[in-house]
Amino acid sequence: MSSSQKSAKKLKAESEFDRAESAASFIFSKTKLRPQIALVLGSGLGAFADEFRTPVKIPYAEIPHFPRSTAIGHAGQLVAGKVGEIPVVGMQGRVHLYEGYSAKDVAFPIRVFARMGTKIVILTNAAGGIKPEFVAGQLVVIKDHINLQGVSPLTGPNDERFGPRFPDMTAAYDRRFREMAVGQGNRHHSGLPEGVYAALPGPSYETPAEIRYLRSIGADLVGMSTVPEVIAARHCGMRVLGISCVTNAAAGILDQPLDHKEVLEIAERVKGQFIALLKTVIPRIAAELD
Ligand code: HPA
Repeated sequence: MSSSQKSAKKLKAESEFDRAESAASFIFSKTKLRPQIALVLGSGLGAFADEFRTPVKIPYAEIPHFPRSTAIGHAGQLVAGKVGEIPVVGMQGRVHLYEGYSAKDVAFPIRVFARMGTKIVILTNAAGGIKPEFVAGQLVVIKDHINLQGVSPLTGPNDERFGPRFPDMTAAYDRRFREMAVGQGNRHHSGLPEGVYAALPGPSYETPAEIRYLRSIGADLVGMSTVPEVIAARHCGMRVLGISCVTNAAAGILDQPLDHKEVLEIAERVKGQFIALLKTVIPRIAAELD
């Protein structure tokens, strides 16, 4: 074999699919658990993984090909464990486009979970509230999204081993899961509304004019994450639940500047409510797998 043939073979051998496979094997070498649900825990919301039973913690830095989070409020480790009797895996922190990662990098952990056989992903985030009722501290179930990040993790040649070239996004956020979350929110909390999440690249917060524009196109929430992961999850055939924690009124709604410290403070304040919601929702959505 000539050296160019060898390097072509090597390139082929290092497909995204193979990278996901080697990360999945590494995780399986650290834990016997076979997670049914993966959780991506956004800014300040990672505390939920501290409650897992029999936790095994794996720093992202140790997992082959895994991106490392640099954002404040993101611990940067994977925690495998149990919620009740349900085996789960949680990401304490995610990576974002604004850190310089590509949409593919951002979505890579989702593809790893898919290779691990995980069929459900719960994505959480901190978001600005565009809808006037969405005040700081409100939890909202994501019913749909608008991708304004200008990128997709599926750009480039499609690998059919992950999923089809043109995945359907009609029901990106699973209807059953949304109903279950809203039902539990109404039972145990002061109501859990639904909203449309608009994703922007960040890292600057929006201008008031951008927020007026987002409202006019049907967005209720705004943030800088989640959408690449949802696209990759749907591509792999995973079912998705998305929950936003509104940490602030979006720019221009209140006459005050936005501050990441406030985002983390509010996330910290709703932590208990957020954890209680996930604890009631997880067994219900896991029951869908049977
Ligand atoms: N805009 C974008 N992302 C955010 C916000 C916001 O107001 N709050 C938390 N994440």
